[in-house]
Amino acid sequence: MTTKRQVLESAAYLEAMLPFAPEIGLVLGSGLGPLAYELEDAVYIPYGDIPHFKTSTAPDHAGRLVCGTLAGRRVLCMQGRLHGYEGWSPDEIAYPVYVMKALGARALVLTNASGGINTSFAVGDFMLIGDHINMTGKSPLTGPNDDALGTRFPDMTFAYAPALQEKAYEAAQDCGIELHRGVYCGVNGPQFETPAEIRMFRTFGADAVGMSTVFEVIAAAHCSLPVIGIAMITNMAAGVLMQPLSGAEVNEIAIRRGADFRRLITSLVGRI
Ligand code: HPA
Repeated sequence: MTTKRQVLESAAYLEAMLPFAPEIGLVLGSGLGPLAYELEDAVYIPYGDIPHFKTSTAPDHAGRLVCGTLAGRRVLCMQGRLHGYEGWSPDEIAYPVYVMKALGARALVLTNASGGINTSFAVGDFMLIGDHINMTGKSPLTGPNDDALGTRFPDMTFAYAPALQEKAYEAAQDCGIELHRGVYCGVNGPQFETPAEIRMFRTFGADAVGMSTVFEVIAAAHCSLPVIGIAMITNMAAGVLMQPLSGAEVNEIAIRRGADFRRLITSLVGRI
């Protein structure tokens, strides 16, 4: 359970360390961390130094906050996120979202690497997350609710803020990058899905699958922080191409498509 008291302690520590109050929170997914190096006048704070923060262990997740300016906006960036498959609980994973809100962020930009379920997608494509299906069976809001953070039963209808989605389309058009829109299916992992699971998710209406994002979005809805999610399709999901999946492939594609991804996110951030 996350409490307002914890969140304020984390925020007080960061307020003393950061050069400014951030306007936008940015979470960088697998292989997407290098965007943090494009922040100007960056200040780095390891998660381990921040009261109540947990430290990411996933490969290529640096595990630190990077605060700086991107496209003229004051950004607080998570270079590396926490995942359920590392053993973190949903509320631990979602915790930084509340801290970003407490620091003054008015929008949260989430990115991730996903497997493509929609057969009209191709490896290297980008998908704006229009909605999600939480297949983890868990919620970061399980347990007592601190009403100072948000309501017991938050609405998820507009969790993915329509106004931010408009800005993402404008950014994509400006960058000459195609942006699909679809439903993200969040799973625990770390194993990739079976082909049968992917067929089920497709029947459910999912277009992409990944091991992150849904808990952060639930927390953002809980604390009324407008959120947008953009997925990079790093592989076609299990069974789509009848070839084995590998984490190395995911990272390789994330790196190869990284420059376009960074342009897209930078352009989006400049519009928020
Ligand atoms: N499944 C789950 N998570 C992922 C995938 C996938 O195919 N690709 C990248 N993250």
